[in-house]
Amino acid sequence: MAIVQTDTASETSKSTLDQWDISHSWHPFTQMQEYASLPQLHVDRGEGCWIWDTEGNRYLDANASIWTNAHGHNDPEINAALKAQIDKIAHSTYLGLSHPLGAALGKKLADISPGALSRAIFSDNGSNAVEIALKLSFQYWQLQGTPEKRLVVGMQNGYHGDTFGAMAAGDSQGFHGRFDPWLFESRAFSSPICEEVNGQVFFQDSEKSLSELEILLETEGASIAALILEPSIQGPAGMRLQPQGFLKAVEALCRRFEVHLILDEVFVGCGRTGSLLACDVESVEPDFLCLAKGLTAGYLPLAATLTSESVYEAFLGSFESGRGFFHGHTFTGNPLAACVALKSIEKLERLIDSKRLESTVAYFGERFDAAFRGHPNVGEIRQRGMAAAIDLCPDSGRDPWPIDERVGMKVCIEARKRGLLLRPLLDSILIVPPLVISAEEIDFLFENLKTALSAAMKKLSN
Ligand SMILES: Cc1ncc(COP(=O)(O)O)c(C=O)c1O
Repeated sequence: MAIVQTDTASETSKSTLDQWDISHSWHPFTQMQEYASLPQLHVDRGEGCWIWDTEGNRYLDANASIWTNAHGHNDPEINAALKAQIDKIAHSTYLGLSHPLGAALGKKLADISPGALSRAIFSDNGSNAVEIALKLSFQYWQLQGTPEKRLVVGMQNGYHGDTFGAMAAGDSQGFHGRFDPWLFESRAFSSPICEEVNGQVFFQDSEKSLSELEILLETEGASIAALILEPSIQGPAGMRLQPQGFLKAVEALCRRFEVHLILDEVFVGCGRTGSLLACDVESVEPDFLCLAKGLTAGYLPLAATLTSESVYEAFLGSFESGRGFFHGHTFTGNPLAACVALKSIEKLERLIDSKRLESTVAYFGERFDAAFRGHPNVGEIRQRGMAAAIDLCPDSGRDPWPIDERVGMKVCIEARKRGLLLRPLLDSILIVPPLVISAEEIDFLFENLKTALSAAMKKLSN
């Protein structure tokens, strides 16, 4: 067997890389039997919104490297900050020690977050940010002498990650249903309905959702610790939108029934909806706010769970009191990740203050609408901020596609041939480009996605 060295791996032939990958890798959220039957793509480098594979082909990164990339790849300012830090130290523990970047990032997050969220606990992915919020809430009520408050309420179609607490709080039967017997008990209420593109609302209804939640809180509020939801957009559920005012109403119910509000802004935070945080739009102040993905603009793994001084103070006491929070990870508060997050937030503030993000969102929505509204193979379309989805449908009069037809995947494979990287969600296509995508790149994205869609439909009808 060939000896693999990191410095020569990039010069290894495509067929050898394919063979290593197929023989030794197990990719996440991927049916490996299907993956092995498809052409493999090995990413070599990135620049701005573009990615090059090892054979020199160029692709527009239209899923922002799984919804993380904000300022483009290989950003000179972030690179410079990272290079300066790596010459100092790559990692030191945050368990009982600090470093200037961690302290500065904690301060910055407190400054930009709403209300009294003055404390940050760092971790390294969205699922862990959620686990931490859930555990803090659970322990808080115990420390307050109300241990009966332990149930978690989530919203229909909610997705909060793949760890056990996150799965229990979520409602992603398709992904997690088989683990049900291992999950703790939780409750769910239906999600509201909202169809919107470019700020224009076509239909909305949150009445059923809010009245269900109110009844649930009235009957079980005394035993509910926390309610968790993804504000504004349920991304992993296919960009399901919430109407304006919904979040504020949920916040009011949580306050009325003394239930913690956990906002999972892992996807929608850090500029994705057009504002720095999604909860800013309705001036909502959660008890816990979870950030990850865009926090480091797609550079390094980092997450933060923010909470208030009053929650923090409940955990104070002598060591012997056992009130401390025993949760942490080896790479908690990693200095490289913290330095990137600080630089990225600084750039994000400029992007928002200069109104550049606002005009990008407007153009993105306009071109999206023009490309797909009324398209014969597109049912519902949804868009808010720099996130959009199309639900594919067969020509009228034709039977629905069987799941194994993998139509969404087929469209993405056609898109790849036309220089676009996208990921499907069953028969929906989710479009989440870097926040700095230009007007020309937006045109390229929608023109090529439309052509890919026609090509895939033609093959299906043959
Ligand atoms: C809303 C939301 N919460 C949590 C997560 C989990 O984050 P991670 O994959 O970093 O664990 C995701 C991931 O897609 C997400 O979209």
